[in-house]
Amino acid sequence: MSNNSGFEEISYAGQVVIVTGAASGIGKSAAQLIASRGAKVICVDLNQAGVDQSVAEIKATGASAESAVLDISNQSGVMELITTIAKKHNQIDALVNCAGYPGPTGKFVEDITWSDYQKVIEVNLYGAIWLTQAVLPIMKKQKYGRIVQVASIAGKEGNPKMAPYNTAKAGLIGFVKGVAKEVAVDGITINALAPAVIATPINVNTAKETLDYMISKIPAGRLGEPSEVAEIIAFMGSKACSFTTGFTFDISGGRATY
Ligand SMILES: NC(=O)c1ccc[n+]([C@@H]2O[C@H](COP(=O)([O-])OP(=O)(O)OC[C@H]3O[C@@H](n4cnc5c(N)ncnc54)[C@H](O)[C@@H]3O)[C@@H](O)[C@H]2O)c1
Repeated sequence: MSNNSGFEEISYAGQVVIVTGAASGIGKSAAQLIASRGAKVICVDLNQAGVDQSVAEIKATGASAESAVLDISNQSGVMELITTIAKKHNQIDALVNCAGYPGPTGKFVEDITWSDYQKVIEVNLYGAIWLTQAVLPIMKKQKYGRIVQVASIAGKEGNPKMAPYNTAKAGLIGFVKGVAKEVAVDGITINALAPAVIATPINVNTAKETLDYMISKIPAGRLGEPSEVAEIIAFMGSKACSFTTGFTFDISGGRATY
């Protein structure tokens, strides 16, 4: 019987963990925390300089990391990278997918171009699906795996004037629910996370009216910190998250209580 009673289950010793979006914000913070708990972290991002910097910072603490450059909306690129990682390391214990971007904000649904819809959905939804497809055969062979998909409160509640992002993140939450039931007997858990506004560079270009709306909805009266999000991700990606799957974890300062 596995031991779910103690802190040792939060240890990532001997594990290989892929973190996308690791050049910045939530992904960077999650990569740092998971590496500090003993994993070799593969830091993935389309921003080469940023991801190299994340890896350098992790290594400077004595923890283990390496970088890989990838646009997760490139399907063949996703498959190639995951295959390369699996061949090199012989295991993938967890995938933490934090790569994402909001696309247009402050625009009515009918004023958003179709190419904007497509791009936002390709990155935030298709990329997440392709990453999941790529790691699952490896995790099934191992009879172990953890998948963390960073969705958004936008996918649970919908924010006005962010239609492509709402759509992609809601789709991701639905994807996670069904996959979880397919792999529940394989030692694999897959969960989504729905943050409200977190203090990261992602919000720099968000329309003021949209940002003000989202912040006004947070009872805690403040933005979340990436380090707070990293803590819940580190649980979701660990052995300790053994009997919760298909769930959407909340980190919204009280905005969503369901
Ligand atoms: N910060 C928030 O308020 C907030 C709220 C809810 C959900 N989220 C979600 O959390 C995740 C992380 O966001 P963040 O706040 O850390 O943002 P961030 O901008 O600080 O970091 C996102 C990272 O993803 C990378 N990225 C973007 N598109 C990519 C692609 N196609 N392929 C590979 N890498 C790509 C960026 O280069 C960046 O390093 C995103 O999925 C975002 O939608 C953020």
